[in-house]
Amino acid sequence: MNNRSLISINDYSKEEILQVLKTAEEFEANPRQKILKNHVIASLFFEPSTRTRLSFESAINQLGGRIIGFTDASSSSVKKGESLRDTIETVSLYSDLIVMRHPLEGSARFASEINDTPVINAGDGANQHPTQCLLDLYSIKQTQNRLDNLDIALVGDLKYGRTVHSLVIAMSMFKNIRFHLVSPIELKLPRSIKDFIVANGHSYKQYTDISAVINNIDILYMTRIQQERFADQLEYERVKNSYVLENSMLDNSRDNLRILHPMPRVNEIDENVDSNKKAHYFQQAQNGVFVRQALLATILGLR
Ligand code: CP
Repeated sequence: MNNRSLISINDYSKEEILQVLKTAEEFEANPRQKILKNHVIASLFFEPSTRTRLSFESAINQLGGRIIGFTDASSSSVKKGESLRDTIETVSLYSDLIVMRHPLEGSARFASEINDTPVINAGDGANQHPTQCLLDLYSIKQTQNRLDNLDIALVGDLKYGRTVHSLVIAMSMFKNIRFHLVSPIELKLPRSIKDFIVANGHSYKQYTDISAVINNIDILYMTRIQQERFADQLEYERVKNSYVLENSMLDNSRDNLRILHPMPRVNEIDENVDSNKKAHYFQQAQNGVFVRQALLATILGLR
């Protein structure tokens, strides 16, 4: 993993994923180690973000590193028409590693192929979000004490949800996973990813209603219906409030059930659920710091 870009979760083997999770546990126990004090990390966000950008920044700050970059491409020379190639060529002269979020699918892979500076994909369009995937895996292991033999429900926008795509691919590396796919008809998981589930020896079922699965699962992974991915806003209006999780819906769920959400939420989880012991999404967001510290340390050859 040393000096290698992380663009898709498939770039890592199961053993490498487990190694990152183990290293993240070390950082959770001791997050303030000044191992990045001689490093500069570039943070290029061409799309809005709260958790991904700020947890990377927190991770870098706690490790004593320096950050350069932008949170809004309109403040960079992209606004004057500069190409992504030229932007990456230039930024790589100033930094040891580039973290990039971009709305175009494939943009992170393209950036990683321009030169030898490692790139971490912080989300490319509806394609992949591998660092979110690693913190999701960390959170599942933290709450269930295993990554095998699980019933996982994924709810919401399974068509455009890049966190869902990365998580399904990663969980398929483990044993005996039963995927319960809950979405409006228009937002079903893409066929290629369902084929991937089956090709890796797992099963899936599709539903339109959470109540059909909520009492028989270990992980409930809620997602937002993403307005920004819809070409047709009328279609978004039709599906936007398809799922709203409320406390009463959890009454007969398994004791070990934990609710995850990559966030941001709009209104798919009622705020009253936040105090339910089964809610784990803020802890999940905190785990992003430890996992990203582990990734930075690993890719920069410091672990
Ligand atoms: N989970 C996630 O990617 O959140 P942000 O868009 O706030 O970074």
